[in-house]
Amino acid sequence: MAAVEVIRILIVLLAVVSVNEAFRLRARFPRPQRQELGQHAKRHICRYCIYETRTIRQKANHFNFQTNRTFLQRYLIARKNWKVGGPIFFYTGNEGDITWFANNTGLMWDSAKEFGAMLVFAEHRYYGKSLPFGTKSYKGPQYLGYLTSEQALADFAILINHLKDTIPGASDSPVIAIGGSYGGMLAAWIRMKYPNIVAGALAASAPILQFTGLTPCEKFYQIVTKDFYKAGGEACVNSVKKTWNTVKEYGKTASGRKKLTSIFKLCSPLKTKENVTQLEYWLSETWVNLAMVDYPYPASFLEPLPGWPIKVVCKYLQNETLEDDKLLQAIANAVGVYYNNSGHAKCFNTSQQAVSFLGDEGWSFQACTEMVMPLCSDGVNDMFTESKWDFKEYSLDCQQSLGVTPLEYWAEILYGGKKIRSHSNIVFSNGELDPWSGGGVTQNLTDSLIAVLIEDGAHHLDLRHKNPLDPPSVVQARKLEKFYMAQWIKEYHEMRKKNVHYRVSNKKANGKFKKISVL
Ligand SMILES: *[C@@H]1O[C@H](CO)[C@@H](O)[C@H](O)[C@H]1NC(C)=O
Ligand SMILES: *[C@@H]1O[C@H](CO)[C@@H](O)[C@H](O)[C@H]1NC(C)=O
Ligand SMILES: *[C@@H]1O[C@H](CO)[C@@H](O)[C@H](O)[C@H]1NC(C)=O
Ligand SMILES: *[C@@H]1O[C@H](CO)[C@@H](O)[C@H](O)[C@H]1NC(C)=O
Ligand SMILES: *[C@@H]1O[C@H](CO)[C@@H](O)[C@H](O)[C@H]1NC(C)=O
Ligand SMILES: *[C@@H]1O[C@H](CO)[C@@H](O)[C@H](O)[C@H]1NC(C)=O
Ligand SMILES: *[C@@H]1O[C@H](CO)[C@@H](O)[C@H](O)[C@H]1NC(C)=O
Repeated sequence: MAAVEVIRILIVLLAVVSVNEAFRLRARFPRPQRQELGQHAKRHICRYCIYETRTIRQKANHFNFQTNRTFLQRYLIARKNWKVGGPIFFYTGNEGDITWFANNTGLMWDSAKEFGAMLVFAEHRYYGKSLPFGTKSYKGPQYLGYLTSEQALADFAILINHLKDTIPGASDSPVIAIGGSYGGMLAAWIRMKYPNIVAGALAASAPILQFTGLTPCEKFYQIVTKDFYKAGGEACVNSVKKTWNTVKEYGKTASGRKKLTSIFKLCSPLKTKENVTQLEYWLSETWVNLAMVDYPYPASFLEPLPGWPIKVVCKYLQNETLEDDKLLQAIANAVGVYYNNSGHAKCFNTSQQAVSFLGDEGWSFQACTEMVMPLCSDGVNDMFTESKWDFKEYSLDCQQSLGVTPLEYWAEILYGGKKIRSHSNIVFSNGELDPWSGGGVTQNLTDSLIAVLIEDGAHHLDLRHKNPLDPPSVVQARKLEKFYMAQWIKEYHEMRKKNVHYRVSNKKANGKFKKISVL
């Protein structure tokens, strides 16, 4: 009897554990589905984005001399608007195909002319076409081990030096690092790590404080919930909140699973409890993604969506009294806004968001090594189910799935956490709708570490092309960002003009040591 009870509790515990894990691991930065890149490309034809594709040979390991291995890093370059001596806007590529980021970083294209700037988009190692070990790159830690932010920053620094050395007239060009999301973190970090190479950085939606002990792990899902509340009121939030129990109840029986399958028009039937858990992740990930891409105009950053998509989603979720089938049907309709904007979807595939593909594996590895970004939800102050952050369990999962043990505090030790006031010339911009803004720098730290808050902004809205439907807050934010960029450029040229070394002579003149300038 007692043993049976223990086993029952253990089974319940295990079920809870597996739910928690995936919940946490699911949350990640927005990125297109690899298998959909072709499809995406069609939706993303960017008229302005005319670039040349090049490669540079990089060392696989910049930090010791054990191996001579090298690989080709891809970068895109656009020099149409560049004037000799004008700045280089350098996009520090994130965890994905660089052409996608180039097409989605309209701010750079929109301001190239005004600054006489050269645009460079550098691909992050292990993503897109920049694979250090070709098709073997993901085959275990012995290959993946060179996938770190330090190596990526070194690639960027070397590439910048190479451009300045080889492009006539570029040696005097100030470099401004620009990036969004993880790319924004890299933009901030490259300015911190290589101030000799980068004059300033625009770090958009860069959650450099989303590490252990720096930001409460609840914040992320609370912001998602706040977005739904703002767009659709309490009814919308409560409807989502109510779903979890209903799905769980239905998931317990074969007939319930059959019903779930038909209501959600799933491509393949839910057969097991794991399949039901998968449905839950898929739903929660959909809400999270919507919060990240809640842009004011129709856009297809992840999926093609109407303007203010959460408002559209919440239209289906205004009747709080709905229960069971009717509630689930309403949720299914709401989800359709995200996956079926085109009206062409025949069915929904719950593994589409969750399945491992190349870009995803790379980020999983980074999340399981340096980029440990705790997320959790309590189910009370947010519309999700309770999911605690447990580093030990997270670590175990990383060991089992990828054979690596994450370093809980390394990112903070490496990049400074909140103790970054000795750095300079970084603008941190954050949209208040963006769940990642919780881990962003949202206060001015010094007069050159500037926080720009965008009231109606989702994930790096400011980096997107200007649009007639842009809210005033983002128009203002871009103005401020450009103001600081212009200032860094001016400062850089002034410093170069004054590039004199001082020597203090031993001879005193009028009782004072004499300062002599030497060129
Ligand atoms: C980016 O836009 C170019 C055209 O400007 C297109 O050829 C390319 O496929 C797009 N890439 C992606 C990933 O959308
Ligand atoms: C690196 O290359 C040099 C020159 O080709 C060679 O002499 C050396 O043994 C190589 N080192 C390693 C570790 O492969
Ligand atoms: C359902 O779960 C089984 C294993 O538990 C898995 O093989 C199958 O792909 C899952 N199906 C869906 C639709 O997730
Ligand atoms: C809300 O749903 C209930 C139950 O289906 C229904 O009786 C009621 O009319 C609905 N209210 C509105 C305003 O649609
Ligand atoms: C997608 O939308 C179309 C048009 O509204 C509809 O006929 C179809 O059933 C929807 N697909 C799914 C999977 O809900
Ligand atoms: C669901 O998506 C996964 C990943 O894209 C794919 O491998 C699988 O074939 C899809 N299933 C169906 C039934 O479309
Ligand atoms: C930071 O300072 C700038 C310039 O004074 C100001 O425009 C901005 O609003 C400040 N940011 C915050 C979050 O207070």
